[in-house]
Amino acid sequence: MNIRFFNEGPHLLDSTIKALRRDRLYIPTAVDYPDHDRWLFEKVIPGIESGDKHSVVCVEYDGVGSSEPIAAIVYQQSQENPLDLEIKNVSVAPEVWGREIGRCALAQVIKYGPGEFSKDINSVVVDTKETNLAMMAFLKSCGFVVTDEAVNSRLGHNGVPDVLLRRPLDLNKHRF
Ligand SMILES: CC(C)(COP(=O)(O)OP(=O)(O)OC[C@H]1O[C@@H](n2cnc3c(N)ncnc32)[C@H](O)[C@@H]1OP(=O)(O)O)[C@@H](O)C(=O)NCCC(=O)NCCS
Repeated sequence: MNIRFFNEGPHLLDSTIKALRRDRLYIPTAVDYPDHDRWLFEKVIPGIESGDKHSVVCVEYDGVGSSEPIAAIVYQQSQENPLDLEIKNVSVAPEVWGREIGRCALAQVIKYGPGEFSKDINSVVVDTKETNLAMMAFLKSCGFVVTDEAVNSRLGHNGVPDVLLRRPLDLNKHRF
């Protein structure tokens, strides 16, 4: 497997969007995220172009000139709390699940993301559906803890509450 992780910069826009537009069967898009495409075009693309949003992308190379984005994480400085780095989306292609790609991409975001926005950022936060058991287990395994903090989209698209998980940057001195 020949993979590389990249972060920051509008030059990653195409790869990020390609990763996020892949077959979405691996997240319950129709039910939990019906506005996914609109979110991509109205928020993610302008956000990355303006520099308000950044991304980490994992690209797999086949050795004969082709490459395929297989994971992407989009993040930004939180608008509600500028001391938080907020993860907006985590997507890993199903064919590479369980190979620590998600954990490695998240590690890049946690290590480099805060410094791309502000030295004052002291926590990384992410919200997800509490019914998204894979995501909840993944985030807990990566050191995030569930909070009772309010989430903007708390009653979400299908009435299933979103929960906010938080990981203080202090944890970086421990194993990820
Ligand atoms: C959740 C997701 C990011 C995991 O990515 P991944 O690359 O397969 O995860 P990793 O291999 O890095 O696993 C890291 C940890 O998460 C755990 N994990 C990952 N998927 C899991 C699952 N389906 N169930 C339980 N635990 C899981 C792993 O067991 C591992 O923990 P461990 O080392 O303590 O055992 C991936 O399945 C995905 O993209 N799902 C869709 C995400 C989504 O719903 N996005 C929309 C909301 S933001």
